[in-house]
Amino acid sequence: MYVVVVASECAPVAKVGGLADVVFGLSRELEIRGNAVEIILPKYDCLWYDQIWGLTVAYENLWVPWHGGAIRCTVFFGFVHGRKCFFIDPHSDDNFFNRGIFYGHYDDPERFAFFCRAALEFMYKSDKRPDVIHCHDWQTGLVPVLLYEIYQHIGMGHQRACYTIHNFRHQGTCGEDVLWGTGLGDPGRYFVQERLQDTFNLLAINMMKGGIVYSNAVTTVSPRHAWEVRNTDLDCGLGGTLYTHRDKFSGVLNGLDYEQWNPETDPWIAGHFTAEDMAGKAEAKRALRERFFLRDADVPLVSYVGRLDSQKGMHLVRHALFYCIENGAQFVLLGSSPEPDTQAHFRHLKGQLNDNPDCHLEIGFSEQLAHQIYAGADMIVVPSMYEPCGLTQMIGLRYGTVPVVRSVGGLVDTVFDVDNSDRPKAERNGFVFDDVDFAAIESALARALKLWRDKPKAFAKLAATGMAQDYSWNVAGEHYLDIYERIRAK
Ligand code: ADP
Ligand code: GLC
Repeated sequence: MYVVVVASECAPVAKVGGLADVVFGLSRELEIRGNAVEIILPKYDCLWYDQIWGLTVAYENLWVPWHGGAIRCTVFFGFVHGRKCFFIDPHSDDNFFNRGIFYGHYDDPERFAFFCRAALEFMYKSDKRPDVIHCHDWQTGLVPVLLYEIYQHIGMGHQRACYTIHNFRHQGTCGEDVLWGTGLGDPGRYFVQERLQDTFNLLAINMMKGGIVYSNAVTTVSPRHAWEVRNTDLDCGLGGTLYTHRDKFSGVLNGLDYEQWNPETDPWIAGHFTAEDMAGKAEAKRALRERFFLRDADVPLVSYVGRLDSQKGMHLVRHALFYCIENGAQFVLLGSSPEPDTQAHFRHLKGQLNDNPDCHLEIGFSEQLAHQIYAGADMIVVPSMYEPCGLTQMIGLRYGTVPVVRSVGGLVDTVFDVDNSDRPKAERNGFVFDDVDFAAIESALARALKLWRDKPKAFAKLAATGMAQDYSWNVAGEHYLDIYERIRAK
């Protein structure tokens, strides 16, 4: 099968969160299974260029229709750790992708609407006729719309669209300008609830809704979250649309790239280890403490890695930090936020705790440090308010770092409480709490710290159980291929 992935992120060159890992990992899995995969990305100025091999111009003078005129683009090609990637570089005063950051500008909807049109125009002009075009999140929601409204009539009638939603909270809502920009035009056609009109703001179009309505298959990133968005208010207004399109909607649990995340070979960690031989993990813990100036003592090390975003339950993360340092444990945090206020809050907290030998806050984005924390910590907290899938708990499991999570979204599908779970004892791999209050997370943390202290063998066994479980792309790769097979033009 020939699959073209259109996305705004791909690890490690353009990574804000898990979307990047998924785009890379799923593409790799599909290729391993003998499919041809190409990824189309914006050519951001802030790509991690060191990680692109053989960047060359693949297509010059791609004129992309935009607001009745056209913008000239150059398309580059390069390998990202073996994946074939095309990067679209528009030349215009809009300066869409040369902003030093991936997201966070007032014109984000225009930037990515343009990217959608450019990705299709590139496929069209360079005679790429994939079986399936797989798009992700609101940034590429207009790809299926443009495919069916424009490109299928001019030679792309056999291409099918699969759309994966990683985060329902960000939907890409904007004014009708984007319709004129992309050449869709005709507001009367699109400003209806059955197509792109936003559920709440009747004067706005909603790109994610477009992706749902026009795709042949729609997925979100865990079965539990697929249920939540159909049955709770976590749908962010799209429940009705999902109900209408329920026959093509499902939840597929993300995998983890087991090559990229491998404690046996990880080039960034101080000691290597396996479930059978954990000596290297102690070395990784020692190195992490040294790096963060933490005191060396026989105490557990708890961690948080992730965006500093209200989605992640920041008040609970903060509470976990203080709970740990007041209860004889250490805490390390690695996180960043595009919101200046949140970033400032955590910087302030860091300043406040700077001299504490039992905790360290690292505010920023560092792939390398993330690996070192997953490897060196004993536990990882994920107290999310909502979590479509969540990768940090899966990475924790892979690195023998026991997850302490809230029972929501993909966390429910991956972490099973050691004491209370309907899963067989042999599958239980962490600590789970339900409520969004301090008492709930405290009680889960208390159980985790107690097990670490009082029953080290049982704790080690729990860590080993997680390491032995298979959260690789193996299963999800098969699921997606089934979906592609189902929607492919026969
Ligand atoms: P989300 O996609 O909602 O941010 P996930 O748990 O799915 O959450 O994925 C987060 C990914 O981003 C993981 O690979 C995690 O290691 C990485 N990550 C998040 N914040 C940072 C950071 N500050 N530095 C390095 N990696 C980070
Ligand atoms: C989103 C979600 C996260 C998920 C990731 C990858 O950013 O917040 O839960 O793991 O996408 O699908």
